[in-house]
Amino acid sequence: MSFDTPIDRRGTHCVKWDMMEPIYGVDANDGIAMWVADMEFRPPQCVQDAVKAMHDHGVYGYFGDDSKYLAAIQWWMDTRHGWKIEPEWVFTTHGLVNGTAMCVDAFTAPGDGVVLFTPVYHAFAKVINAAGREVVECQLTNDGGRYEFDFDAYDAQMTGNERMVILCSPHNPGGRVWTKGELRAVAAFAKRHDLILVSDEIHHDLTFPGHRHTPMAHIDGIEDRLVMMTATTKTFNIAGSHSGNVIIEDPDLRRQFGARMAALGLSPNSFGLFMAEAAYSPEGAAWVDDLRAYLDGNRKAFDAGVNAIPGLASMPLEATYLAWVDFSGTGMSRDEFTQRVQQDAKIAVNHGPTFGTGGDDFLRFNFAAPRAQIDEAVARLAKAFGDLQ
Ligand SMILES: Cc1ncc(COP(=O)(O)O)c(C=O)c1O
Repeated sequence: MSFDTPIDRRGTHCVKWDMMEPIYGVDANDGIAMWVADMEFRPPQCVQDAVKAMHDHGVYGYFGDDSKYLAAIQWWMDTRHGWKIEPEWVFTTHGLVNGTAMCVDAFTAPGDGVVLFTPVYHAFAKVINAAGREVVECQLTNDGGRYEFDFDAYDAQMTGNERMVILCSPHNPGGRVWTKGELRAVAAFAKRHDLILVSDEIHHDLTFPGHRHTPMAHIDGIEDRLVMMTATTKTFNIAGSHSGNVIIEDPDLRRQFGARMAALGLSPNSFGLFMAEAAYSPEGAAWVDDLRAYLDGNRKAFDAGVNAIPGLASMPLEATYLAWVDFSGTGMSRDEFTQRVQQDAKIAVNHGPTFGTGGDDFLRFNFAAPRAQIDEAVARLAKAFGDLQ
């Protein structure tokens, strides 16, 4: 399979292409969708075959024995991340936005504070607010185009009302692969303030050369307050399967979480389980390695083109396929640079402010698409900001 092959997704009810006109006013006929974090690629053949086998069998009844699915998760976490887990630690939710919402529901009460390191994936704040909890924004420091924590400032911000902290690791949108030292500091912060630590590691497989993801579970002494979240969906581009794993080692936290899952009557979707079992395999692993190499080429092409435009700065990514571009150097208002990207270049992107404090000057571009599409996007941006050359 070639990642270069364009696939027309228009008219398939996909949010990325079919909702960009209603939401951003960018016509899908001549626009480019670079917002929602899914990819323009088919998953590996083994995943497509698993769906085809389900289709061919033709009976879509209740799912039962999940032992192979759990064994596949164990194998993947061990072989790809050096992380040994037990099957009984795994809860399967309807994706990780749902997993986040379940954590908020299980481990906090209305009015409690939930700490986020912003700017960060926008759905965290959405579910926290929707559940009647308070988002406590701890802003990351942008140190010359690289996000860093500032725990002295965060310590001073805490009021004692906080119950949970959610870490995005690797970080969306800044693309940081947090170092072991940084993860230790996050764990120490959680302990100091007696917080449950939820580590969303959905982007853990999508690192770039020279960067190795460390699971938060590798940090000593945090297991009694740690909730890990992983999924096949970003890695294999199967987000429509709405499936994610909340992995909890601590028996008390597990009981609490399991009780809420039971109270809400949640059980997994069989399509997601079959796809995950197929994906977490040697064939899936080889595909991911090819994907990462391709994404690395896209990252380089995108960054070279964008950084050549005076005033634009694409944050150097260590992981993810989501470029976080700083427009502050243009001296333009947010409305103006956004209008140039959307109306002139006809590119639909995610807007910085939705990621929380610190995101105002940024737009997020998804470059997980055939290289020709990335080249076209870069050419359009160069034209839209041509007066700055
Ligand atoms: C950090 C993070 N968590 C969760 C999600 C979405 O997870 P799901 O599709 O499983 O709900 C995304 C999607 O971009 C993400 O970036």
